[in-house]
This record gives sequence, C-alpha cells and structure tokens, in this order.
Amino acid sequence: MKTIVVSNRKGGSAKTTTAVNLACELAKYGSVLLIDFDTQAHASIGVGAEGSRDNGVHSIFLGKTLSETFIPTVHEQLTLAPAQEFFDVYEYGDLRGVLKNRFRREMIEGFFDYCIIDTPPTFDALLKNSLEVADAVVIPFVPHHLGTVAVGQMVRAIYQNALQIGRDIAEVGILPVMYNPHIPEHRDALEKVKTQFGEEKLFLPIGVDIRLAKQFESASPVVLGEGRSKGLEDYRRFTQQLLERLG
Ligand SMILES: Nc1ncnc2c1ncn2[C@@H]1O[C@H](COP(=O)(O)OP(=O)(O)OP(=O)(O)O)[C@@H](O)[C@H]1O
Ligand SMILES: [Mg+2]
Repeated sequence: MKTIVVSNRKGGSAKTTTAVNLACELAKYGSVLLIDFDTQAHASIGVGAEGSRDNGVHSIFLGKTLSETFIPTVHEQLTLAPAQEFFDVYEYGDLRGVLKNRFRREMIEGFFDYCIIDTPPTFDALLKNSLEVADAVVIPFVPHHLGTVAVGQMVRAIYQNALQIGRDIAEVGILPVMYNPHIPEHRDALEKVKTQFGEEKLFLPIGVDIRLAKQFESASPVVLGEGRSKGLEDYRRFTQQLLERLG
C-alpha cells in the first residue's frame, strides 16, 4: 500500500479537491482508502458521504479501531474513513503514533493498494500522525507570493518532523493549482518554486475549472465524469505523474 498525504497549512489551496480527485482516479487502478482528517468533512462530502458525529476517523484517538469507521462511497473501490465533526485535537495530550498503530494492528496495508489522507490547514497532531505513515506528501499551492512562502514552510516542517521522529523523509511533490498561464504572477511563482526546490519536485499544474468547485454540490468527482474537461485532464495527468514517481 502506498500512502499519500495531501497537505498545506495554507487554507484554500485545493488539498481536498486534490485528495478527492486523486482518490477517485486511483480507484480505477486498485482499492483505495480515503481518510478525511479535516473535521470540516469536505472530502467526505466530495465522495458522497458526510461527516460523522461519533464514528468518524478521529475516534481512533478515543480508542476505536480505524476499520469500524469505514463506509462506502461513490466509487466501488473507494472506502472512506469520514471526518468526525466537532473533534477538537487540542483537547487531548500526546496523540502521536495512533494512526500508525492502527495501520499496523489492523493490517490496513493488506486491504488497500492506496491510502489518501486529506489534512486540515494546520500543523498539529493530525498532520503529525499522517506524516508518520506517509510514503509521499503532495503539497498543492496557489501560485502567488504567499503560496510559495507556504510551500517553503511546509517542506521545512516535513523535514523537521522526519528528523524528530527518526523516520525517512517522505517523497515530497509540489502541485500548482488554479494556475492561469496568462497571469505573469503565476508564471513567476512557478519559476521561483522550480528554482527553490528543483523542477523534479513539481507536478504539471492544475488549471482553473469551475467544475472542480461544483463537484462538491453533486458529490460527483470530476475525474469520474464523462466527456472532456480541463479539471479532469489535469487531475488524470497529475495521477499518472504521481504513479510514475511512486514507482
Ligand atoms: N482548479 C480549481 N479550479 C476552480 N476552483 C477550484 C480549483 N481547485 C479548488 N477549487 C475551489 O477552491 C476552494 C478551495 O479548495 P479546497 O477546499 O479543495 O481547498 P483546501 O486546501 O482543502 O481548503 P481548506 O484549507 O479549507 O481545507 C473550493 O471552493 C474548491 O471548490
Ligand atoms: Mg480541505
């Protein structure tokens, strides 16, 4: 099983849009577990479900198993561990290693080919639990100045966390989103990120496509749609690039 964490502390940078479309596209190739670690429950909504009051994924921190939170989604091969609304991570003490422990004890690796984790826009125990099981971290970012600053902060946080827990650094990939090649600031921001982190870290960008916003209303992820659309083609291309990198 390959575990891919989608993360950026910057809000509104298309983490959830990326997690949902990636999970649904990967479900065409194998079995996928989507973990919605953001109590906003937007990823859960994106795959035709909703946040749970007391049987969401966050209940693993209160002693539940991970598998008892699983529910079906819009895709047969895609299982969801929905968000638990109103879970407050700051009410609890040391929450390290819980997700990793559940993966091991419930032999999650044996049941899924891919696990995608959507994370909240914070650097907290939820993100740390995710990084402890990550094979790869995808950082979506909107290409403007603060977007590039946030990528730098995220990359540093990932490296620092890996050092702290003595774990190999997960493969890091940077995904420009809502990219418009006609806006000079977008082109400049992309160049800066390429220079700073290396071209090989960058995925080809996702353009603006209003269908990517509307999909949450209809619980119909763009990559599962028929016909051609920019968002569909961009997310399919991104998934192929990611699969090549994961080897
Ligand atoms: N490529 C795109 N084109 C048009 N709209 C987009 C695109 N990507 C995302 N959006 C819209 O932008 C908004 C932010 O996206 P999303 O919710 O995925 O970000 P997020 O990083 O998960 O946010 P949060 O930090 O709140 O978790 C949403 O309304 C989404 O529908
Ligand atoms: Mg989100």
